[in-house]
Formats: sequence, C-alpha cells, structure tokens
Amino acid sequence: MTRAAALADLPAGQPVRVDVDGVPVCLVRTEDGVRAIHDTCSHQQWSLADGGTLWGNGVECSLHGSTFDLDSGKPSSLPAMQPVPTFAVTVTDDDVHVDVSSATNGAAFPDH
Ligand code: FES
Repeated sequence: MTRAAALADLPAGQPVRVDVDGVPVCLVRTEDGVRAIHDTCSHQQWSLADGGTLWGNGVECSLHGSTFDLDSGKPSSLPAMQPVPTFAVTVTDDDVHVDVSSATNGAAFPDH
C-alpha cells in the first residue's frame, strides 16, 4: 500500500488522477468510499480522470464514452472492450492508500 492522496483532496464524484509508484491511477470518491482504477482507458489510452464523469459506479471516458465499472474494471459500453485494472484501497483517517502491485480484477496492465 502506498499513500496516494489525502481524502480531503478528493471531491465527491470527481475523478482525480494520481501517480502511485509510477502507475497512473484514477481515484474516485463515491458514496461507498474511494475506488481506484488504472487511469488508462483500454480503448485508446486516454486518461479516464481527464474529463471523466462518474455515472453510478462507473467512470465514463471523456474521449469516446466507454464507461468502466469501478469494481470490475469492465466497460459497459463500446468502443472499449477490455477491462481496466482495479486496485485495492484503504482509507485511514485522511490518508488514501492504494496497492498497485496487482490488479484486484486480474486485468492486464497497459504496456505503455
Ligand atoms: S479512449 Fe476511452 S473510449 Fe476511446
């Protein structure tokens, strides 16, 4: 686990990009807590946090509109077809920690 952000720096429902041990991560504070998903869209490698929008439990890529579930990492709409890695999150007091050593959903990391 690596400290990724302060909880106070995560506006509710607003995706935020952070770097965790060299891995770009999209953090989203939802009603249920904080979710972490790889920030790279599996369609054309766009940043999910860059203009991304939260819809229910998914983040919509701002480039072509695929929405990725924050728990399964799977896209629910085209054009993306491959899942994005999701990561374990722990919140302690005001600190948000993320484990990027492996994907909780088993999805492959992007190779670029
Ligand atoms: S780059 Fe994300 S849907 Fe195309």
